[in-house]
Amino acid sequence: MSAAFGVLAAAAPAPARGPPLGTRHRASSSPSVAFGSRPRGASSSSACRAFTPAGAKIAGVGMSVPAQFLTNDDLASLVDTNDEWIRTRTGIGKRHVISGDETLTSLAAEASAKALEMAGVNARDVDLVLLATSSPDDAFGSACTLQAAIGAEGALAFDITAACSGFVVGVINGVHFIRGGGFKNVLVVGADVLSRYVDWRDRGTCILFGDGCGAMVLTAVPDPNDCCLLGFDAHSDGEGNHNLTASCVASVSARGESKPRAEDASAASAFAGFDNIAMNGQEVFKFAVRTVPDTLGKSLKAAGMDDASEIDHLVLHQANQRIIDGAAKKLKVPAEKVVSNIEKYGNTGAGSVPIAIAEAVEEGRIKEGDVVATAGFGAGLTWASAILRW
Ligand code: UT7
Repeated sequence: MSAAFGVLAAAAPAPARGPPLGTRHRASSSPSVAFGSRPRGASSSSACRAFTPAGAKIAGVGMSVPAQFLTNDDLASLVDTNDEWIRTRTGIGKRHVISGDETLTSLAAEASAKALEMAGVNARDVDLVLLATSSPDDAFGSACTLQAAIGAEGALAFDITAACSGFVVGVINGVHFIRGGGFKNVLVVGADVLSRYVDWRDRGTCILFGDGCGAMVLTAVPDPNDCCLLGFDAHSDGEGNHNLTASCVASVSARGESKPRAEDASAASAFAGFDNIAMNGQEVFKFAVRTVPDTLGKSLKAAGMDDASEIDHLVLHQANQRIIDGAAKKLKVPAEKVVSNIEKYGNTGAGSVPIAIAEAVEEGRIKEGDVVATAGFGAGLTWASAILRW
């Protein structure tokens, strides 16, 4: 699926709005916008506002990584590997892993607070929290605990599971919510604590993954043609799912193969969980090298760009420096435009793209008006890209 907003969309008339879609619940005292409950024809400026198409801008970013990190030498004491192999094959020097009281929610809350501060947006004014993660603190998701942790009491909050493509998918979703009307401030968070699922005996995977989180605040602007999402492209291929998994494991009773008996109850619940990460590295590598330039080419085209010469920065999912370099070469993006921090953090799943963007902004590298081409890829299999104007 590919699409373009902003410059290209400017030529198109505003779409006709359909009937009310439903009711959005707000727990706080902030003004309610009830899409479904207002009778047709009733005049209300807030009802009109809910359906007024808006533009969207990026207002702030932030990041957070755990305090503790593991160097390549640390891993060489666990498995048969060495610093030279890991750096040459992946570009990774160290990775952060949660410890003590740190959780996915605590990392996400820290990154979100920074993004909100940069945006100048009070958490109480956030309408929507989209948390992209594959490693929530709770099987039912962590977006709501994040919402509570930051005090975004009026927001709808839910998780997005699209693995390492999750943040890019989240941004595409967030912009759509804003452009549809009714959502002014959307917090999009990409976070993972994949160290929970790493098999520390498997040298093929334990060297890659780290924990971390990045956040972005998207804010509505009045002009529908003023949109930070210039073009996007997104795909899934469940046929390749087996190449990268952390499968659900459950006891016989929990799987429903027999009726749980009272005496099984404690055993059944004790067995529910997820297995370690299992990856066919070479297949995932080939998939990434094939799909990343392709999806970026489609997003550039959707944004009305002939090639990557018009972009200022290339920010890819930080999975392997060789994948980043290969994609940059194919797209003819010079090294000075390529953002890479894989050496410091490894592969932080859904966190990697927003961490890289937030760091580049903090360093003054990404500046107002710059065009950022970004892509995520990974388990699912999923892959997605977006051309963003900062
Ligand atoms: O976020 C999700 C997306 N994930 C990815 O994009 C990961 C994509 N895949 C990769 O990045 C690479 O495939 C890896 C970094 C995982 C592996 O690199 P590779 O160049 O594909 O290595 P390989 O699997 O072909 O293994 C080459 C050799 C093997 O030894 P033999 O059979 O040639 O004797 C492996 O056993 O390297 C060995 N090896 C290691 N040696 C030292 C594998 N892992 C290690 C290690 N240290 N950590």
